[in-house]
Amino acid sequence: MPIESNSVFHVPVLAKEVISQLEPKSSGCYLDSTIGGGGHARLILDASFPDGRLYGIDQDEEAIRAASHALKPYGSRVRLRQGNFRAVREIYKKSTFDGILLDLGVSSHQLNTPGRGFSCDRDGPLDMRMDRRNALQAAHLLATLSETDLAMAFRDFGETHFSRQIAKAIITQRAKAPVRTTTELAEIVRKAVPLRRERKSVVQVFQALRIMVNDELGALSKGLKELFSMLLPGGRMVVICFHSLDDRIVKNYFAELADPCICPPDLPVCGCGRIPQAKVLTRKPVRPSRAEIESNPRSRPALLRVVERLDLRKA
Ligand SMILES: C[S@@+](CC[C@H](N)C(=O)[O-])C[C@H]1O[C@@H](n2cnc3c(N)ncnc32)[C@H](O)[C@@H]1O
Repeated sequence: MPIESNSVFHVPVLAKEVISQLEPKSSGCYLDSTIGGGGHARLILDASFPDGRLYGIDQDEEAIRAASHALKPYGSRVRLRQGNFRAVREIYKKSTFDGILLDLGVSSHQLNTPGRGFSCDRDGPLDMRMDRRNALQAAHLLATLSETDLAMAFRDFGETHFSRQIAKAIITQRAKAPVRTTTELAEIVRKAVPLRRERKSVVQVFQALRIMVNDELGALSKGLKELFSMLLPGGRMVVICFHSLDDRIVKNYFAELADPCICPPDLPVCGCGRIPQAKVLTRKPVRPSRAEIESNPRSRPALLRVVERLDLRKA
């Protein structure tokens, strides 16, 4: 029994693909580890009608508030908790799941709210915290990191070719006055790079800062392991990434689950005893269709990967 969507908090990306991979069932229990506005969660609940259960996590209290409101009609089928998915075992203790979803990155709501500081197109404070109970904000990084550390961060987390020029421009600017707003930062970056690379460089710098403020790569590396350990045999984990740094972590972790053997290739039989834990269902990542990109341009970079946990009792 579908419930009408009234949410503009976030349009769920690759929605059909997520549902066809998770195959939600009425008796099942599912975990949406990045619940956002509850867009995917609602579809999982509809597909697992009448009594499939949905557990949700988000580190952003505004997401939890929005999802609680959007999913109210589903009553006791839904449980939501604010927290980081890296700590899922502390949040949902001994629970196990038939399917797990991770839809990484920021929500449209976070991007569109100037006060959160995520978007280079909206003037606001350089905050960028998804969980505002944490202390570290982007402005603090810009004020305290050395020129070398800033350059390394822009190179490693933003993948920009102009990391040194941008870091130098920030150091020069902050000697005059602290860099406090998104508009100020965007302007510094624009002036530091060649004309044709302005927009891309600004986006890359914002991405690098956001990744650092939220320790996104650390959370993903730990979270994937914790989440997989709560997946039931035969259950699937679906992950949507929006940049290559996240996607590389997911791809490598899935490959390790499917082929964990560490024996030298010339050893005739396996001696390490590590056996495959999962089957990768997406050799190449699934991408949004042209129609989806047209109707929701923010879906463009999305890359979806899926693993299925093997039932080792059958082996
Ligand atoms: C792209 S949105 C998810 C949108 C959601 N699928 C929907 O349909 O509305 C990503 C969400 O993940 C949350 N998030 C990102 N990293 C997280 C983490 N490590 N732990 C918990 N939540 C996280 C963000 O706060 C954001 O609300």
